[in-house]
Amino acid sequence: MTLEEKVAMLHGNGKFTSAGVARLGIPELKSTDGPLGIREELHKDSWAPAGWNTDSATFFPAGGGLSATWNVELARRYGEAIGQEARARGKDVLLAPAVNLIRSPLGGRNFEYFSEDPLLNKKLTVPYVLGVQEQDVAACVKHYAINNQETNRGTIDVLADERTIREMYLPVFEGAVKEGKALSVMSAYNKFRGQYLSENDYMLNKILRSDWGFNGLVMSDWGAVHSTVPSALGGLDIEMGTEINNYNKWYYANPLLEAVKSGELTESVINERVENILRVMMEINMLEGERKGGSINTPEHRQVAYDVAAESIVLLKNEGNLLPLDASKLNSIAVIGDNAIRKHANGGFGAGVKAAYEVSPLEGLQSRFPDKKLVFAQGYEEHYLPNKLGRAWGLPVDYTPNDKLVNEAVKAAQASDFAIVFIGSNRLVETEAEDRKTLRLPFGQEELVKAVKKANPRTIVVVIAGAPYDLNEIQANTDALIWSWFNGSEGGNALADILTGKVNPSGKLPVTFPKKLEDSPAHATNSFPGSETVVEYKEGILVGYRWFDTKAIAPLYPFGFGLSYTSFECSDFKAGDSNKERIRLDFTLENSGLGEGKETVQVYVSKTDSKVPRAQKELKAFKKINLAAGSKASASFDIPVKDLAYYDEEKGWVVEPGTYTFHLATSSRDIQESLDMIVQP
Ligand code: BGC
Repeated sequence: MTLEEKVAMLHGNGKFTSAGVARLGIPELKSTDGPLGIREELHKDSWAPAGWNTDSATFFPAGGGLSATWNVELARRYGEAIGQEARARGKDVLLAPAVNLIRSPLGGRNFEYFSEDPLLNKKLTVPYVLGVQEQDVAACVKHYAINNQETNRGTIDVLADERTIREMYLPVFEGAVKEGKALSVMSAYNKFRGQYLSENDYMLNKILRSDWGFNGLVMSDWGAVHSTVPSALGGLDIEMGTEINNYNKWYYANPLLEAVKSGELTESVINERVENILRVMMEINMLEGERKGGSINTPEHRQVAYDVAAESIVLLKNEGNLLPLDASKLNSIAVIGDNAIRKHANGGFGAGVKAAYEVSPLEGLQSRFPDKKLVFAQGYEEHYLPNKLGRAWGLPVDYTPNDKLVNEAVKAAQASDFAIVFIGSNRLVETEAEDRKTLRLPFGQEELVKAVKKANPRTIVVVIAGAPYDLNEIQANTDALIWSWFNGSEGGNALADILTGKVNPSGKLPVTFPKKLEDSPAHATNSFPGSETVVEYKEGILVGYRWFDTKAIAPLYPFGFGLSYTSFECSDFKAGDSNKERIRLDFTLENSGLGEGKETVQVYVSKTDSKVPRAQKELKAFKKINLAAGSKASASFDIPVKDLAYYDEEKGWVVEPGTYTFHLATSSRDIQESLDMIVQP
């Protein structure tokens, strides 16, 4: 290959492509967003839609939904399905999964991401990546790394100590690389310790390649490259997505060529980059051999979207047994709220999907109650204050209720047996490139819920959103409260089946819901979103529930929480057959209620006499178990001893000998049984 041919492979030659070498039969590398489904086809050189009518895809539940299932098999099926859809559209690299740890409830991209807990994050990411790559598509795990806010994301310098990044922010990437064999990683927009991630020698060369043995390709986020020689030496393989239309002018185009010609860089650096790309191409059978062709929007994929949505919905409150709805005892339902009819596939830049279809909650209910009277009232409308920035996202929310719509909703509620109010957020309020400013629910929804509840005590509230909101008022005012997500093509069907009880809720929160923003670690320490230029992660390892538990702050809803229409009892928690490498813990779970259901049993560990500061407890294992009413199952957890380690800057991972307390739990705050064990590593 000539130097020119090699350099051409290292930068975009279109919005989502980088060049191959036709002379040698090396094809172009084609990437596609994104985490919620395969993005519509764009013009090669612009962000405008290409206008195809064959590019609609399955809209898969957003990250929050997938993680709320706590179901690793579903993560695998999700990866397989989305990977097949990428192949069906002729793509080589899927720009997903998006796995940054959720640091603040306000993060604009929380809806795309999975969790505040590194173990849950990793356990879902690994099977997702394996599933994608089995389809001859490279997963591009993003955004590497320590990219946890949208505010000033293109310039902010993140400062976090070594223990914090190793224990909290990096495990998901390490798992994706070592266990998931991820072929590609996207370098993030921000800086880490003074250096942009696309030229961050420590993060790319040292940790990713040298420590973890990554030998795939590093692709920059779109427009995240700021230099030529430092990026080439820092470990970046492909520069993507600047707004400069002349591709030759990109850092990794003519300037890279010049740097080699002038002797500033040796050609071996370029060779290494090209080898990384060719290795990935070989892995996904781009260069020779049979390649899988994929499939799109098939009944199987719709089933995956449905199964994930159905297992992701979280029952937060159910007093007076309003739920599930008993069809034999009702004639009419007032279906209230803009989110009853709103579709959530579009928006959010790379996270948008041209959905083949999307069932709204109202449509879901109509299909489940064909012979009942369903009266729709909008209740509230999305409404924004004039914005001076002239852009279409992160708009200033108007919190004023619309009295006319509230009155119509009240009338509908009065005239119906039940009222179901669908509130929450949308893809303009939660979006890439902007963090939210507050936890407050938009558009006067609290007033709406209050008025409807007054009009009809049999009111059920369903919140559809991707990140925590202030639900203090809402939960105080309702007996039945359900949480759902931007939940994909089948979201409305899944919700309807939860409401009718066809599906028993089994979702568990993958993040803590604070009572107030200032209770959350990044806000309590006044370190979100930082200054214009720097953000310091002052809470350190105490992210999410680790902070709430250690500081004894009661959350509104704890991490790992979610109710069911049935009830479960845990018992017989005891040490099993352990060895030097792993601890086995046995337990029994009983479904002591009336219907079949799934419970996610969680194991947390505490080390109260540790030599170093530790979180009060940390999630170490979980298992989702399906049980028929009245039945029991015995099961066990195997916890690798090395997972008990903390990170020491000098010594690396250290497992302290001594006593550890293991808690068997149904949420981070619902401990069923605890036991002490002595560990001698
Ligand atoms: C986002 C990425 C996305 C890329 C391409 C960027 O702005 O951060 O997640 O894959 O755009 O659309």
